[in-house]
Amino acid sequence: MESELHPGRLAVPAVRELSPYQPGKPISELERELGIHDIVKLASNENPYRPSPQALAAMRAALEDVWLYPDGGAHDLKYGLAAHLGVDPACLTLGNGSNDLLVLLAEAFLTPAHSAVYSQYGFALYGLVTRETGAQPIEVPALGMQAPMPYGHDLDAMAAAIAPNTRLVFIANPNNPTGTWAPAAALKALLARTPATTLVVLDEAYFEYGHALGTQDGVAWLAEHPNLVVLRTFSKAYGLAGARVGYAISHPEVADVLNRLRPAFNVNSLAQAGALAALGDQPHMRNAVSATMRELARVEAAFRQLGLWSAPSAGNFLLLRVGGPAAPVFERLLQRGVIVRPLAGYRLADCLRISIGLPQDNDRLLATLPQVL
Ligand SMILES: Cc1ncc(COP(=O)(O)O)c(C=O)c1O
Repeated sequence: MESELHPGRLAVPAVRELSPYQPGKPISELERELGIHDIVKLASNENPYRPSPQALAAMRAALEDVWLYPDGGAHDLKYGLAAHLGVDPACLTLGNGSNDLLVLLAEAFLTPAHSAVYSQYGFALYGLVTRETGAQPIEVPALGMQAPMPYGHDLDAMAAAIAPNTRLVFIANPNNPTGTWAPAAALKALLARTPATTLVVLDEAYFEYGHALGTQDGVAWLAEHPNLVVLRTFSKAYGLAGARVGYAISHPEVADVLNRLRPAFNVNSLAQAGALAALGDQPHMRNAVSATMRELARVEAAFRQLGLWSAPSAGNFLLLRVGGPAAPVFERLLQRGVIVRPLAGYRLADCLRISIGLPQDNDRLLATLPQVL
């Protein structure tokens, strides 16, 4: 019987057709492959300044209770976040990373009868979670090279692309992998044009970095726009990518839907303890962000000196055009122990995405790059 020979074919068609998300290459994998050490990973937009020591201490203390199930409602973390953000705890949904929340949003609001709008070069998960539900993806061309924000979201065109069956519009601000961001006025105009039957998912995974450069805080608009959902994460500025904690801030009815769908223990007890303590150490986070933004400016200037163009960035990474196919440049960097991210999956075959590391990591990249171009 066919089902016995090919059990994978029993999966629903939309899922069978998915291409998996391609994460950055882990250091351990490159060590195994090349037998080299002293590897620098600038491939996953992680925060090399690491989490607050208070977060690490809280996670170590939480280990003692690891035999107990976590608090499914994550009471302490939720109340801590609510106080930090100035919102009602009923507006919050916690996720196993904000990735989890993107999946929950798609599962809750999309079916094959619906569509979702996102930008060309928008974060890859938007297309993935949309297609997983069988909904129609509406990918809107990005801004061109002549625009003030090349490769950025064309919010006018995105608003115009919203169809009567569009349930979700995904906007990353700043966006990954481009680093580009949208002016507050353009975001407001899109919100004003979005019908009440469409949710706008404003993904602020890099909020803390962008905010240092003056990008909009979407939470300020929630009271005015019940169809707005803001996503944030502890993976980037708080340095807890491995712990997997993200959150959605939304109208309480949207939070109620997401919380009903969410697996009860989607944020584990170590992660809850670490995130709450990290939130309590704002100076540590702010110092990491300032150091990263200083280095971002330095790396950007060094690229310019090499005659290379990088997109304007309000994240902890740069989109670099290498002036030819990027795959061989990526490979040659790998051979020299520098892991960056190729972007052929985004149809940006002449670009690399390079995370901002510690000053010595960035020095290594800048010293290696001229040898491999
Ligand atoms: C724009 C954007 N949104 C969401 C995520 C998901 O992050 P996490 O699941 O670690 O919170 C990422 C991760 O790189 C991202 O770049």
